[in-house]
Amino acid sequence: MGLTVTCVAMSDWRSFEERTIELTPGLNVLCGPNATGKTNTVEALQLLTAGTSFRHPRTTELVRDGADEGRAKARLEGDGRVIDVCCRAARGRRRTYERNGKPCRPADLSATLMSVLFCPDDLSLVKGSARARRDALDAFGAQASAGYRKVSKAYARAVEQRNRLLKEAHVDLGMLEAWDGAVALGGATLLHARMALFERLRTQIRRVYERVADEPLECVYDCSIGPDAAGLTRDELRDLILDAIAERRAEELRRGVTLVGPHRDDVSFSIGGRDARSFGSQGQQRSVALAWKMAEVAVARDVVGEQPLLLLDDVMSELDARRRAAVTEFVVGRIQTVITTANLQYFPPELLECAEVIDFGGC
Ligand SMILES: Nc1ncnc2c1ncn2[C@@H]1O[C@H](COP(=O)(O)OP(=O)(O)O)[C@@H](O)[C@H]1O
Ligand SMILES: [Mg+2]
Repeated sequence: MGLTVTCVAMSDWRSFEERTIELTPGLNVLCGPNATGKTNTVEALQLLTAGTSFRHPRTTELVRDGADEGRAKARLEGDGRVIDVCCRAARGRRRTYERNGKPCRPADLSATLMSVLFCPDDLSLVKGSARARRDALDAFGAQASAGYRKVSKAYARAVEQRNRLLKEAHVDLGMLEAWDGAVALGGATLLHARMALFERLRTQIRRVYERVADEPLECVYDCSIGPDAAGLTRDELRDLILDAIAERRAEELRRGVTLVGPHRDDVSFSIGGRDARSFGSQGQQRSVALAWKMAEVAVARDVVGEQPLLLLDDVMSELDARRRAAVTEFVVGRIQTVITTANLQYFPPELLECAEVIDFGGC
């Protein structure tokens, strides 16, 4: 079964002076009215598993007003192991992480237990900019593999430095060529890993979408170096990127930015031949976002060999009965789930019977 979170404890963390919550290995429902700390708890769980959070908090925001240092801890248990993880946030300092009392990097936390989070903002996976989709792919890849994380960071740095050079008043062309090489190699490495990851996700996204919406969905990785990139080796990709860079040299110099590479790619969805972003109904778009997240769960399980922790923040109220049923079907599988809600009526009674309901005030 792998690891599950048995307990999360927060002190001087966000709105909590002190709060300890015991979790079951199955379904946990955090129930309470607005502003009672449900999302704060989900955020703590995400930081302790993914090493990042969808809220992108500044460290100071995590510290309870009036306190100096906030702490969130979780105990993970399973397969005869007990692992304690901790995140410390002190005002004006970088936050630090610990694993069994020893300092560690955020990447060590996701290597211990991955998590998948689904929240209403995830509609941006369909409606948002290309960047939202790329970032989602890379964030998932980074959690699933330390190698992916390194490659994606190194590439982002290379593009940033090359852009800085392109913006200079007099660009040193010899230097630019050196950066062409770095961007092409880093870009090819990332692209290769990202397309492989997307291919796994794509299969699952289509499968889940079809089950939820009863119609087929097409998903395509739109590659800025052309439609033929799929299936190429890393060296072939590097050569393609170098060619594309050479072709757009003048334009890049004029605009001062790197115009080719995986930082310009996108993912597109279409239903019945029409682009879901522009033509999909709200319901169809929600189903695509839901399918993406459920696909992440399935792929995490395949890649890492263990179930991730599933965090669902405030999603039930946004979904119609059919999509709620799909979520329900998913969470009754053997996966530890933490779900927040202001209203237990969104949950079928038979589901609540096997769930731990955690009271956040007047539920
Ligand atoms: N650093 C902080 N110190 C004190 N209160 C905070 C801090 N950060 C957030 N809060 C409070 O937490 C509450 C929001 O909690 P949240 O978990 O988002 O609520 P919900 O239960 O609706 O998900 C707000 O009232 C906000 O003012
Ligand atoms: Mg909330």
